[in-house]
Amino acid sequence: MILENEHLEMRDLVAKFSDAEVAPLAESIDHNGEIPAELRAKLAENGFMGIFVPEEYGGAGMDYLSYSILVEELSRGCASTGVLVSAHSSLATWPIITYGSEETKKKYLPMLASGEKVGCFCLSEPNAGSDAASLTTMAVDKGDHYEITGTKNWITNGKEAGIAIVFAKTRKTEDHKGMSAFVVETDSEGFQVMKCEDKLGIKGSSTTQINLDKVKVPKENLLYKEEKGFSIGLATLDGGRIGIAAQALGIAEAAFRYAAKYSKERVQFGKPIANLQAIQFMLADMSTKIAASRHLIYHASLLKDRGLPYSKEAAQAKLFASESAMWITTKAIQVCAGNGYTREYPVERHFRDAKITEIYEGTSEIQRLVIAANELKAIN
Ligand code: CAA
Repeated sequence: MILENEHLEMRDLVAKFSDAEVAPLAESIDHNGEIPAELRAKLAENGFMGIFVPEEYGGAGMDYLSYSILVEELSRGCASTGVLVSAHSSLATWPIITYGSEETKKKYLPMLASGEKVGCFCLSEPNAGSDAASLTTMAVDKGDHYEITGTKNWITNGKEAGIAIVFAKTRKTEDHKGMSAFVVETDSEGFQVMKCEDKLGIKGSSTTQINLDKVKVPKENLLYKEEKGFSIGLATLDGGRIGIAAQALGIAEAAFRYAAKYSKERVQFGKPIANLQAIQFMLADMSTKIAASRHLIYHASLLKDRGLPYSKEAAQAKLFASESAMWITTKAIQVCAGNGYTREYPVERHFRDAKITEIYEGTSEIQRLVIAANELKAIN
């Protein structure tokens, strides 16, 4: 897919930002397990926290393709930074744009778009991961407000978030039918971050467990209607999966570029290893998987921008880009051999960061289920 000028300019701008402001911090972000406040402030100043929020609510008013390019380029610099923006935008901001009342949009979108508040998405629970429908968090109608009680797991941005999209059942059911979705302010009484996970990769991105103990939520913070929460969650994840695919692509691109450069500098048997076909074959396969991932991601983004169905294409993009990122980062270590396996070289970080893209916002197996279900529905 060939980008038009507007998107080429966007890519150029974010690539320069990523090279100058993000990539130089990636190693220390990985080491310290935190994205510095100054970098978060720069992301906000550049309008990146409100990339597709309509201008009337304080956002940049750009399209989803621009968002995908943004996440790809930020993730090329630092995967943790990429997912901070990705989860905030696609999982927390998008459902408010799409399902919030006018009042809710006016109240919450400006603070999310400006980066004053970070957003997170609270669907998963200790016993409800891939099987999201089985969640047990309850939202009890108390007349003028709801009272939400339950525990949420694997919450990206949980430590930084000021606004959470929380899924809870307003009617106790075994299946998804009683589920509703709410906008919850994280400084509400009873909302508590219990722990931050110590992870293999994306160490600068917080992954938290959150406890909600009788958290009072105003009636108007319900998104759309009661019992529409599961559809809101899955539709939100469709868009989120494009973001994770873009994150995987950024990680893969960073690993590929490093390995290619290394192969031109590393001399063995009297010549740069880039002259060896064994290395060239690996680089060629890496490059091809990157190009294919990019096509799938941009295609899914364009379908979304045009208001066409894109669940299957989002799942295909995430499946292919994340499995490619795992393969590419493994080969990048292979090209750099012993050096690549050490913490002195960035490819081991790319390898660790890539793995999560096969897991969050639906494992690769879940993406396959979504793709197969869509194909089987379409074929008579
Ligand atoms: N968009 C909107 N609605 C959808 C939908 C979509 N893409 N897909 C299905 N639905 C609706 C259906 O229309 C149906 O609605 P009705 O009951 O009103 O008819 C309802 O959802 C159930 O549909 P299905 O029976 O087809 O759905 P299912 O139960 O078979 O779904 C599943 C199974 C695909 C495995 C789904 O449960 C799923 O995607 N699970 C993975 C969840 C996930 O990705 N979790 C990660 C959470 S986020 C995270 O990782 C943390 C983070 O912070 C990043």
